[in-house]
Amino acid sequence: MKYSGKFIVLEGPDGSGKTTQIAKIEQYLRQRGADFVSTREPGGVAVAEKIRRVILDVDNAMSGLTECLLYAAARREHLLNKVVPALEQGKIVVCDRYVMSSLSYQGYGRGLGQDVLDINKRAISWNGMEYWPDMNIYLDVTPEVGLGRIHAKQTDREINRLDLEEEDFHRKVREGYLRLIEEYEGQFTRIDASQSEELVFADIKSVLDRLLFAESEQDFS
Ligand code: TMP
Repeated sequence: MKYSGKFIVLEGPDGSGKTTQIAKIEQYLRQRGADFVSTREPGGVAVAEKIRRVILDVDNAMSGLTECLLYAAARREHLLNKVVPALEQGKIVVCDRYVMSSLSYQGYGRGLGQDVLDINKRAISWNGMEYWPDMNIYLDVTPEVGLGRIHAKQTDREINRLDLEEEDFHRKVREGYLRLIEEYEGQFTRIDASQSEELVFADIKSVLDRLLFAESEQDFS
């Protein structure tokens, strides 16, 4: 059964500014009086937050496949216990990362390829359907810009196990995303996230207006 809500996912390489933009999205949706849930992966529910800590702990070296399975396990718990109920109640779900993160980081970054898609199709199947987002909003930055932001002294963001990967890993992740955009045409909107926060949000807002409020150029800023 198709749900009545809308499932919007923010995607992008590390340092693409998702956290900042999600705060702006929340503020905008509140202002519009929208009924929404804002959540994140890996995490969003207690079990998945625990899995997140295991995956991202800088002391926990693990194989690429183990990493992929853990992300998929966290994804399924979060999907079944938070995302699906909200969508069935007709809510908007805004989620920081989802399947495309696994396809780019584990599929391309770790080089696991097709296995990642197979595992994830299993993880997002429920009630006879696969839960794919209505839209992936992809914030695009080069590894130079993204990693530069993460390692900048002013930031209070914690450094996790994946941030510590070589620049080459992050380059493969971004190339992965760019290929996924071609492969999954229509499921992505690409936004240049090297712009100022305000310009990035203006682009996101026009996607939200079109998708959620069936508007094009009205000014609610
Ligand atoms: P975050 O910093 O955006 O919260 O994400 C945590 C890290 O996990 C980030 O480096 C991206 C990575 N990640 C994957 O590698 N695969 C996934 O499926 C997800 C959801 C995140």
